[in-house]
Amino acid sequence: MHHFTYQNDILHCEDVSVADIADAIGTPVYVYSHATLTRHFHAFDSAFDGVERLVCYSAKANTSLGVLKTLCDQGAGLDIVSGGELFKGLKAGFRPDTIVYSGVGKRIDEIDFALNSDILMFNIESREELDVLQERAKTLGKTARIAIRVNPDVDPKTHPHISTGLKKNKFGIDIESAMETYAAASRMDHVAIVGVDCHIGSQITQVHPFEEALQSLIELIDRLKAMGIDIRYLDMGGGLGITYRDEQPPHPTEYAAAIRKALSGRKLCMVFEPGRVLVGNAGILVTRVLYRKHAPSKEFVIVDAGMNDLLRPVLYGAFHDIRPVVRHADPDEMVADVVGPICESGDFLAQMRSMPAVVRGDLLVVMSAGAYGFTMSSNYCSRLRAAEVLVTGDRYAVIRERETFEDLIRKESIPDA
Ligand code: LLP
Repeated sequence: MHHFTYQNDILHCEDVSVADIADAIGTPVYVYSHATLTRHFHAFDSAFDGVERLVCYSAKANTSLGVLKTLCDQGAGLDIVSGGELFKGLKAGFRPDTIVYSGVGKRIDEIDFALNSDILMFNIESREELDVLQERAKTLGKTARIAIRVNPDVDPKTHPHISTGLKKNKFGIDIESAMETYAAASRMDHVAIVGVDCHIGSQITQVHPFEEALQSLIELIDRLKAMGIDIRYLDMGGGLGITYRDEQPPHPTEYAAAIRKALSGRKLCMVFEPGRVLVGNAGILVTRVLYRKHAPSKEFVIVDAGMNDLLRPVLYGAFHDIRPVVRHADPDEMVADVVGPICESGDFLAQMRSMPAVVRGDLLVVMSAGAYGFTMSSNYCSRLRAAEVLVTGDRYAVIRERETFEDLIRKESIPDA
């Protein structure tokens, strides 16, 4: 459930007209709903009532400070994958002891930053990374709390680019090697084993893959216990899907029921790293129609948002619903490609889409754009990255100003001849 609804045929985010935002701020602009963010967080978090847990929002889905702060205020922890995300998370107010750090390629400067910040735990993805962490912790006089990210070889039945828990993926360590890596970690004097971790993929629309992964992790925890290694945190990663079109992902309560059942009373602190399920349907991308073009074989709607603003359609063939900001009774229907201004045929937001006919100047919104929208945007073709707005009730705030031409060259210089 989100808070983007038509009121008098004008799309509103909560109680603010999206048309008013577009007129005041310009387009393209990402618009997020505070009420939706908080509702999604509590729906997820409260599904686990009675289970000791830490819900660490996965920053990569949307790293805008305004969004981070909103979730932090609700009691979320943070899942990070880079020093930049740690920096932004700390700026937004997340407590270090609620931050978990995953990723196959942590650099030394990033490891040092996280050690010095005293984060809750590092999710280790290779034996070499563990050795480096021990060495850095020793150098800095710290103890690194770790979980090993296990690759349980589970098929999450999602897009191949966003599957992460299969043997062929670069993520995590297979279970048998993980046992050896835990044994090695237990002998390291600047490493404290605290958890077991996995993340099997994203946009998962069934409970079964999670159950399968959890079963493997529980077996691993039992084997570790037999070796004298006690595990406190079981990190299930993120991955719960959302509805973009007609997907029917499990509700968090269904997901939670499966987890409770598999835990069967074990005393573990569960960690979750949800991203998309919290922010995906809490954001839209608002764009204006620049031109209509009737080509011999197709209709094109050319808008001012491109693949640099929202990469998901071309990268994953992802479907995002497109709606008019102003709704008309009985509109003419058309079938069109909605495309951006970039010089690539992959620059589309929708292809062969049935939609109400639009004319130059109309506003459209791309729905479900709150996750992996702005964070995956770029300056390709020297386009300015979009503004971002956070709506709360009948008020809105610009949480990121639109970039300017000066921003495009801020870090550049021309060498002396
Ligand atoms: N934890 C880890 C270690 C992850 O790698 C990810 C996502 C998450 C948590 C959060 O997953 P979520 O709950 O959002 O599914 N750009 C793609 C998604 C890539 C996901 C990468 N990892 C997309 O636009 O669909």
